[in-house]
Amino acid sequence: MTKRYFIWTVGCQMNEADSERIERDLAGQGLSPAETAESADLIVLNTCSVRAAAEERTYGKLGELRDLKRRRPDLIVAVGGCMVGADHSALARRAPHVDLFFRPQQHQTLIGRVAGTAGGVPARLDLDVELGGTGDGCVDDSIALSARIGRPARFLNVMSGCNRACTYCIVPLRRGRETSRPTSDLAEDARRLVAEGAREVTLLGQIVDRYGRDLPDRPDLATLFEALSSIEGLQRIRFLTSHPADMPERVIDAVARLPKVMPHFNIPVQSGDDAMLRRMRRGYTVERYRRLIDRVRSVVPDATIATDVIVGMCGETEAEFGNTLRLIEDVRFDVVHVAMYSPRPETRAAAWNDDVPPDVKRARLHAVEEVQERISTQINHGYLGRIEPVLVEGTRRGRWEGRTQGNKLVFFDDPRPLVGEIVPVQITRTGAWSLQGEVPRAVTPERHRFAIV
Ligand code: SAM
Ligand code: SF4
Ligand code: F3S
Repeated sequence: MTKRYFIWTVGCQMNEADSERIERDLAGQGLSPAETAESADLIVLNTCSVRAAAEERTYGKLGELRDLKRRRPDLIVAVGGCMVGADHSALARRAPHVDLFFRPQQHQTLIGRVAGTAGGVPARLDLDVELGGTGDGCVDDSIALSARIGRPARFLNVMSGCNRACTYCIVPLRRGRETSRPTSDLAEDARRLVAEGAREVTLLGQIVDRYGRDLPDRPDLATLFEALSSIEGLQRIRFLTSHPADMPERVIDAVARLPKVMPHFNIPVQSGDDAMLRRMRRGYTVERYRRLIDRVRSVVPDATIATDVIVGMCGETEAEFGNTLRLIEDVRFDVVHVAMYSPRPETRAAAWNDDVPPDVKRARLHAVEEVQERISTQINHGYLGRIEPVLVEGTRRGRWEGRTQGNKLVFFDDPRPLVGEIVPVQITRTGAWSLQGEVPRAVTPERHRFAIV
């Protein structure tokens, strides 16, 4: 009988893209997707370390799997992603029922083991014998990734790792140095995604603006945009994340120039206070950040801008936090992802005093959320009555769900099959987190799609 896999993913879009590659490679080895963890022969946990809470989710899942593994000792449990560092002995001790660990981007370790069991197509996944695992574990929720293949909006990791060392951040320690993938490989991957039904591809890198600096022919993000723009059927290109100190004018100009590149920017500021930015080792000042935003808005007038903010990092005073709130009020971002500082092992800041009390961190988080909810409500209200081209990604609670060029979430009703279509939607209601609308009767989705590409 065909062996079946189940992949559970936490963390960022990079992990989602990695999980897709794992799924593709497992399918290439003759395995098929399982609907539930209980019915799988191989369970893969793709993990995240960015904050302690993300690790706790994995530990919770590992706890469930212990019981499942006890009942089914033949089950293989593999753990990959950012929780797996160079030395994962502590993790292995805490989860002795795991058969195999693999580091981010090193899922070939897993695939090699699977392939090695029986000449490419495993008759039996005997990895526990080979790897010396014991048996103990259950999973419920993870989306069957196979459902993602064929979706209109997909992710593509264009590079891995990060050469910066922000003092709070564990990512470089777990994902290593920057490594870009050649443009030709990425174009091939993008074509394959389009052949599978993708209409939009989001290019991912920790600092995606640095794409290509390590490659011999020195392509950059702008040339990558150009190469991908020529792919027929690919209608939208997005990119994240940008770093305020690394974002070249060429990229901003390319967004303005190339119609397939969407006018949406993710530029994490992290703090609105210069002293805190220095402690974070971010490499820019608030003034420089403000100038960058002005430049983006002058070159790309319809730009929407998202940012990330950390509150309550070591020594953050009320005045420093006040500067962050002021920046958020002034810049008026479309979206702010805010997180409470979480000390991460082996980072520079791990040695510092995590002295902002949890209730103060929580109060600052809520203060940012409150201010941003008001700003997002106001900005989104400006969309009322506008007709926005929406790429339909699927349904939610019986309604079509899609995104505008500026990445605003839109819900609407229509009796036609619209997944993968770019549909003109007139916005009739707005809120802080999403828009609602209807398709004006006179315009067919097809006509509009060709009109805007
Ligand atoms: N490379 C991007 C950058 O330069 O901002 C983002 C990387 S990180 C995977 C995503 C977000 O997680 C960061 O923007 C930051 O806001 C948050 N983050 C990272 N380390 C954190 C920590 N120790 N505590 C809380 N939030 C953290
Ligand atoms: Fe982490 Fe900083 Fe690199 Fe982003 S730029 S991944 S926050 S070290
Ligand atoms: Fe988490 Fe690693 Fe992404 S730490 S946020 S999965 S890069």
